[in-house]
This record gives sequence, C-alpha cells and structure tokens, in this order.
Amino acid sequence: MIGRLNHVAIAVNNLEAAIATYRDVLGASVSAPLPQPEHGVTVVFIELPNTKIELLEALGEASPIAKFLERNPDGGIHHICYEVDDVIAARDKLKSGGARVLGDGTPRIGAHGKPVIFLHPKDFNGTLVELEQV
Ligand code: CO
Repeated sequence: MIGRLNHVAIAVNNLEAAIATYRDVLGASVSAPLPQPEHGVTVVFIELPNTKIELLEALGEASPIAKFLERNPDGGIHHICYEVDDVIAARDKLKSGGARVLGDGTPRIGAHGKPVIFLHPKDFNGTLVELEQV
C-alpha cells in the first residue's frame, strides 16, 4: 500500500538555528521559511536526492507540535510521510484493520497541497505516520 518515503519531518524550537545546521554544516539546500497558519507551523523544505526533510517550528498558540517540543526541547523526529495512490482507500483499509486515524479521518490538505491523513503513533511503533496522496 505505501510507496515512496515522501519526507521526514523534524520539529525544532529554533528554526533559524536548524536552517543554519542543514545549510552550513550539512551543506543542504534549504528553502525559505513558509508560515502555514492553518497548520500551526512554519516549514522549510530540504530537498535531498531521494527524499525531503521538513523542519517544523511552532506557529501560534495552538500549534500541534507545541507539546512535542515541550517534551523534546532539542527537537526531534516528529513524523514520517509515506506516499499512497489513494488516501481514502488507504484510510478505509487501515481503519478496517483497527488502526486509528487522527481527527475525524477526513483527509486534510497538507503542506504540499495534497490530501493527507495521520495515523496514531501507538499503532505504528511509536511513530506518527502521515500518508500523502500523490
Ligand atoms: Co508532513
């Protein structure tokens, strides 16, 4: 069902410092920060030859990554995103197998303008999983 690894998202408390680490220490090309108020995060995209890294910084009071950053003050891997051909079909198959989909299960438009859902980390080895329809 799942296809390519679309991205690994890393939550950070200091986006400028994280950008500098990826750009200056690791020599990656890093996009300009993109505030996404509807998702409660500011994102930068790092294009690698085989996948992407996204650095997420909390934006606003009700950011969905605020609690994670409280628990992980140095930052940390927040979720991984796999590509699927049909997010509705994937959701229904997973739900029928007992996996928990976050929210009401309705796909939302994610950071790349594509429909996404999130799967409960307790059902996937402690990892928050995003499925993105490509
Ligand atoms: Co993501």
